[in-house]
Amino acid sequence: MRNLLITGGAGFIGSNFVHLVLEEYPDYRVVVLDKLTYAGNLDNLKGLDGNPRYAFVRGDICDAGAVERVMQDHEIDTIVNFAAESHVDRSLMEPGAFIQTDVFGTYVLLEAAKKFQVERYHQVSTDEVYGEVLENRSTEEDRLHTRSPYSASKAGGDLMCLAYHTSFDVPVTITRGSNNIGPYQYPEKVVPLFITNAIDDIRLPLYGDGSQMRDYQYVRDHCEGIDTVLRRGRPGELYNLGTGVETRNLHMARLILKLLGKPESLVQPVADRPGHDRRYALDCSKVQALGWRSRHSFEEALEKTVRWYVDHEWWWRKIKSGAHYQEYYTRQYNGREIQP
Ligand code: NAD
Ligand code: TYD
Repeated sequence: MRNLLITGGAGFIGSNFVHLVLEEYPDYRVVVLDKLTYAGNLDNLKGLDGNPRYAFVRGDICDAGAVERVMQDHEIDTIVNFAAESHVDRSLMEPGAFIQTDVFGTYVLLEAAKKFQVERYHQVSTDEVYGEVLENRSTEEDRLHTRSPYSASKAGGDLMCLAYHTSFDVPVTITRGSNNIGPYQYPEKVVPLFITNAIDDIRLPLYGDGSQMRDYQYVRDHCEGIDTVLRRGRPGELYNLGTGVETRNLHMARLILKLLGKPESLVQPVADRPGHDRRYALDCSKVQALGWRSRHSFEEALEKTVRWYVDHEWWWRKIKSGAHYQEYYTRQYNGREIQP
């Protein structure tokens, strides 16, 4: 039996990872530690209550006492850290929360990993730490060139992980994933935002000219990649995880509208994000050598994602009609429209 602590397991990728582990590994127990910020949602873990291999603990990764209690109570041997403030636009509004959770919180978890001598500490990181990549692809050796408070905080977390490996021999691995799409993504991120707006005939706020490029991967593929690194990755190593195919935001928006049978006139150009990284692109040959490859093309991933949001209105309508979301949306988008 292995005892996994999955921090941030009530969020988008973390909850998909919890489902994968419980489905695929009958000999694993999973404990979710999650603060339930605006992005944490127990609906993402619906159906797991009563499963003897699953437990949920509400708590903050910045709280050393709470982390140590969970480690002890559940005899944790593996930590997989998904907990983070994760949205670039919010990091432009309130950077402090990002430094707190993504850097300090990572340090608290690393201290626990060291004290309890875990078999593995895995850090879920992002391609954004490489910064804007206008040509070629980022390899794990590339220098970090962060440009937003989000990516700078994530890079701080990565560097702390590497420091704990070098200084204290903590068996750390890190994955740097590209943009995920799929079930349970909070509709502030572009794909679920555009899908759910389009369903309601609300305009799609496209930043700038929409020519920015992202490597959108299906969340289940990303989770399988993390699992591959947990099983076959080498401590002290970093692994990029993505499809290696980039798509422009305008193309992505038009595909969503086409899949939903909505007119292209719903696209509304808005003032660009400050410091907007025009392109991320990953070289994933290192993780491919471990036997992992993403299984969905962008089109397949997007189609499945659109279908999920169409079929799960109960999940996202609750969020979008809430006061927190409405306030954020107004603050983020009101008065931002520009004429095409
Ligand atoms: P998310 O915002 O959907 O979920 C984050 C979760 O962490 C939430 O459940 C939240 O309640 C929890 N959390 C936040 N602060 C916490 C704290 N202090 N203590 C305990 N729990 C806390 O994020 P996501 O999109 O699922 O991303 C998960 C991880 O993957 C993050 O580390 C993110 O940087 C990384 N990542 C995300 C993407 C992407 O496309 N979404 C891509 C690459 C990497
Ligand atoms: P996002 O989902 O915020 O992820 P990230 O910035 O971390 O890659 O944004 C993805 C892309 O979509 C990015 O180029 C910014 C763009 N975008 C819009 O055009 N409009 C929006 O309302 C949002 C949220 C993002």
